[in-house]
Amino acid sequence: MDRYEQVIELAKRRGFLWNSFELYGGTAGFYDYGPLGSTLKRRIEQIWRQLYVIQEGFMEIETPTIGIEDIFVASGHVGGFSDPLCECEECGEAFRADHLVENVTEIADALSNEEVDRLIEDNDVVCPECGGILGKAHEFNLMFKTAIGPGSGRAGYLRPETAQGMFVNFQRLSRYYREKLPFGVTQIGKSYRNEISPRQGVIRLREFTQAEAEIFVDPGNKDHPNFRKFADDILNLYSEEGQQRRTVEKIALKDAVDSGIIAHEFLAYHIGLTNHFLQRVGITADKLRFRQHMKDEMAHYAIDCWDAEIKTERFGWVEVVGIADRTDYDLNAHAKMSNTELAVYREYDEPKMIEQFVVKPDMGKLGPLFKGRSKAVAEVLRSMSRDALDVEEITINIEGEEFIVPSDIITYSQETVKVSGETIIPHVIEPSYGIDRILYSVMEHAFGEEMVPAKEDDEIDANEETRTVLKFRGEIAPVQVAVLPLLTKNELIGPATGIMNALREKGILVSYDASGTIGRRYRRNDEIGTPYSITIDFETLEDNTVTIRDRNSMHQVRTSIENIEEVISDLIYKNRDFETTGIRIE
Ligand code: ATP
Ligand code: GLY
Repeated sequence: MDRYEQVIELAKRRGFLWNSFELYGGTAGFYDYGPLGSTLKRRIEQIWRQLYVIQEGFMEIETPTIGIEDIFVASGHVGGFSDPLCECEECGEAFRADHLVENVTEIADALSNEEVDRLIEDNDVVCPECGGILGKAHEFNLMFKTAIGPGSGRAGYLRPETAQGMFVNFQRLSRYYREKLPFGVTQIGKSYRNEISPRQGVIRLREFTQAEAEIFVDPGNKDHPNFRKFADDILNLYSEEGQQRRTVEKIALKDAVDSGIIAHEFLAYHIGLTNHFLQRVGITADKLRFRQHMKDEMAHYAIDCWDAEIKTERFGWVEVVGIADRTDYDLNAHAKMSNTELAVYREYDEPKMIEQFVVKPDMGKLGPLFKGRSKAVAEVLRSMSRDALDVEEITINIEGEEFIVPSDIITYSQETVKVSGETIIPHVIEPSYGIDRILYSVMEHAFGEEMVPAKEDDEIDANEETRTVLKFRGEIAPVQVAVLPLLTKNELIGPATGIMNALREKGILVSYDASGTIGRRYRRNDEIGTPYSITIDFETLEDNTVTIRDRNSMHQVRTSIENIEEVISDLIYKNRDFETTGIRIE
């Protein structure tokens, strides 16, 4: 078994992850979260909320997972959200064409279908399943299409990203934030992509959870007021230039901004925040890097984009978060599609006197000439330049209709005018997290197999056994404390239940486990990542003390049950250890 199989085997056995629809044979690209998996996922999402919603102040919204067609036409998904598909002419199996040629080229992402076809032919790439000849590569749209309402209905799509739900609410959001830039909004929810051949288990799903923030910023000011917070953090940066040299560099974020590697402070701040979040949930620092998109790989809407990538044993470096400057692409696209201005009005502190080219159409003459269209004609005229107006007859085009305007019905001049504000279309900075990939990576990085004494309490026992352990950080562990009465005797069950209730009231996740030997119970809890176990024995009845065992070190301490919930809470949330919480190690 490789590490992925080990983690997935444990995840299935202990109730973290299950193949969906297993009863009916299952289908690739779908996973269920069992009791421990669901809890682990919520813990990760809660930390995300704590950072983005509470600390950053980006309010969370919830929008439908189905969107109407206009949204995805505007966003570009109907036209271009596709992957190259290649089918085997013999067995009919479908493959991502770019993945088939990944071994013979560096950046398969950016290849045209013709280039993929040529590489397949030149390198004799055949069907990985049956060795058959592969057909030509063609584009396959990844959105799940549906009909809204009965009959043929209205076309709808399961959303491929949560982002669009936030863009289409821009007007209401901007009013909510009183049009003060920057402001941010977040959404955690399901996204759907009909991935061509999801053979990477939980890494490539057809239904997955995204946590996204859309932060609307002033395009003229991409400095971040709190950049200091992360400016000195040293990250593994795999810049565009570094990729050409194949070197990942350790660079402080402020140096990366100063030297132009990262486009601006705002993006760098969010790279820093992503780094902080990923390490807080338990990603190992040296298995984490930030890779810049190459120019020809970058999404059409972005001017700079960095992926947080995590190293996994089977899949190598996996993208888990994309952090992009999406510019004003989305707001412009939805403004055009919906015929609505999506912008904010910013009032200047003091009105400004500015030189402006002013066009004055004579409405008295325009009216009889163009009737109901005269207002629209005047509006276009007002936006035209001196050169364009300096002709005998001005030809303008409004939605395919042509209008000829005699030049003597307009006047224009350069004037000094008083302006009290301006309309701006914000740019969007977007961190887009894939929670499922993060959860799997957290499990893989926490996973360990260690040789330990067969009887943990007995130091002279020379026998050793392997323990499997998930070293989850206390804050995310789906079970934070196991309460273990030594024997199922009423005298012990009473205090054990009391401790369990006190811990639960404090908001700590407790499992009560009374079956099997104590050693076996420790192993069971190591395997699901429980950071602490509390054992209640006959000494408890005499002196009100219990044993707390630390999962990582396997050290045990004897401590009073007085305020045990405070002690455990400090151990879990304040990164304390036995010594700093003031309890004695035996
Ligand atoms: P990939 O290149 O791996 O397909 P992507 O570049 O399409 O990913 P984005 O569109 O940037 O991914 O989506 C943002 C995040 O959503 C990703 O970083 C990833 O964590 C998550 N994500 C995207 N597609 C999937 C998927 N099929 N299964 C699970 N998570 C996904
Ligand atoms: N919102 C970014 C993405 O999912 O592609």
